[in-house]
Amino acid sequence: MPRLPFITFEGSEGCGKSTQVHRLAARLEKSGVPYLVTREPGGTPIGETIRELLQFAPHNAGMTPETELLLFEASRSQLVRETIKPALERGVCVIADRFFDSTTVYQGAARKLDRRIVEQLNVFAVGDCVPHITFVLDIDAATARSRMKERRRADRMEQEPAEFYERVRGAYRELATHESNRIVLIDGSRKAYEIETEIWKMLCSRFPNLIADS
Ligand code: TMP
Repeated sequence: MPRLPFITFEGSEGCGKSTQVHRLAARLEKSGVPYLVTREPGGTPIGETIRELLQFAPHNAGMTPETELLLFEASRSQLVRETIKPALERGVCVIADRFFDSTTVYQGAARKLDRRIVEQLNVFAVGDCVPHITFVLDIDAATARSRMKERRRADRMEQEPAEFYERVRGAYRELATHESNRIVLIDGSRKAYEIETEIWKMLCSRFPNLIADS
C-alpha cells in the first residue's frame, strides 16, 4: 500500500472538478505533502496526443464508440505506468482529474457500450492501480450544460444532446451508491470554498497520516 493516497475526481463537464483539483493541490502544497496532478485523457506526451485526437482533431467526427473507448483506455494505460504508479511508489500523493469511472459512465452508460467489456478494459488498462478515494461532483445536467457553453471551444463530447448528460449524471450517482466505500458524492452546486472544505475534512479523516507522514 502506497504511503500517500491516490485520489480521483469525477463528474460531468462543468461540475467544477478541475477547480477542486487545483484547490486540493494548493492545500497539499501548503501542508508540505508531495503531490502530483494528472488529467485524462492526457497527462503524458502520448496521452496528450490521444486527447487532441479525441477532442479536437478535424477528422474525429466519425469516430466510432469502440474506437473512442480504446483511445481512452490507451491514454490511461500509458498514464498509469509512466506516471501514476511510479509516483505512488515514490511516496507521492496523486490527484487525478478523471480516471476509469469516466469510462464506466461515458462509454458504458452514456454511449451504451457493453458494460462487461468496458469493465474488462478498465482492469486491463490500470491493473492493480485503483484509487483509494474518488470524489464525484454532482450537479444537475442543465447547470452543467450552461457552464459548458461559457467555455471557449466546445470539444467533440460536448456536442452531445441533453439526454447524454442526463445519463452521465445518473450513472455517476448509481456508481457512488454501489461503490460507497471508495466513492464520495459531493453536492457540486455549492460555493467552491464550501466544497473544498468538505473534501479536505473528508481526506483528513480517511487518511489521518496524510500530513503527519509527509
Ligand atoms: P474534461 O476532463 O475537460 O471534462 O474533458 C474530458 C472529456 O472526455 C469529457 O467529455 C469526458 C470525456 N471522457 C470520456 O468520455 N471517457 C473517459 O474515460 C475520460 C477519461 C473522459
